[in-house]
Amino acid sequence: MRLKSSAVITGVGGYVPDNILNNSDLEKMIETNSEWIVSRTGIRERRILDDKSLATSDMATWAVKNLLETTGLSADEIDCVIVATSTPDHLLLSTASIVCDKVGLTNAWATDVNAACSGFLYAFTMGASLIEGGRYKKVIVVGADQNSAIINYKDRNTCILFGDGAGAVLIEPTTEDLGLIDSIFRTDGRGREHLLVPAGGSMTPATPESVAANKHYIHQDGRVVFKAAINGMTDTCKAVLARNNLDILDINWLIPHQANYRIIHAVGDHLGLPADRVKINIDRYGNTTAATIPLCLWDFKEDFKYNDNMILTAFGAGFSWGATLLKWGKLRTA
Ligand code: COA
Repeated sequence: MRLKSSAVITGVGGYVPDNILNNSDLEKMIETNSEWIVSRTGIRERRILDDKSLATSDMATWAVKNLLETTGLSADEIDCVIVATSTPDHLLLSTASIVCDKVGLTNAWATDVNAACSGFLYAFTMGASLIEGGRYKKVIVVGADQNSAIINYKDRNTCILFGDGAGAVLIEPTTEDLGLIDSIFRTDGRGREHLLVPAGGSMTPATPESVAANKHYIHQDGRVVFKAAINGMTDTCKAVLARNNLDILDINWLIPHQANYRIIHAVGDHLGLPADRVKINIDRYGNTTAATIPLCLWDFKEDFKYNDNMILTAFGAGFSWGATLLKWGKLRTA
């Protein structure tokens, strides 16, 4: 069944820190080499928010400001802000409320969504539902993560993978056959042990022992996540195509979560999509968790044409994963 679309992306913004951590820098910090990192992950460099006075909300704020500048909208026109993040500024209070204050979004209500690398996709569908329901006219969805705050730069299994950044989209109603068409999402909590930050939440509050045991950093069983990511993204992409009677060659662009270029290529190959329709920027940013998909939309927006069919797909901690089918519209200009 094809669901009627009525919530379309009309603006895209982004922000990445200036500071670059490249593979040669990592060679000086851990036992690794650039060739290994590039051949196993596709990553050459990542951006790191190195100013200790800044946090996820600052990157999200700059992405939203960039969005408002490029769309020509004023802050008081925004109805709602959803920030997808798993690196909130604080455990108690939403990063979205800080973004509202820093941007000056005086008429918006705001909340966070935590679905790790799938966070942006989930939040985007939630934001689109607010528009489809008819009550809200301008919703901003942000994906933002400061992974450097939860990475152990002595752990070569994880520190090569992640970077910092933020991307934002504006969603508005449309009467045209554009925008969000359908999403298929899955969650399987049995996968939670394979990718998590073990301490700092209510299960294991911070103690001197938890800090000494490095339990506030990302822990990952890379091989398990690797296989589950390929299977999960491929399956949900195929399912959303089938449910909407589309062939893979009807899809102009695949925007995959950027975790590992080998995962991305495997998903593209399994789907039978030509490689030039798959967007990749992992070489420059690494895995920015909830920010990868909106940063891809921001980086490549000039390539997308009115009416293009796109699939956005992600896999992340939880496990959480899914695929969203949409039709590109027209971006506002200032
Ligand atoms: N530099 C050099 N060698 C490294 C290394 C590094 N940075 N990290 C691991 N290795 C070594 C391992 O110790 C291992 O050595 P061994 O065979 O002597 O034990 C060898 O390289 C192979 O390790 P393995 O874990 O099998 O490599 P891999 O091909 O699976 O690649 C990841 C590792 C992490 C890149 C890969 O599993 C991955 O990308 N997983 C998914 C990560 C992800 O997407 N997470 C985010 C959520 S979506």
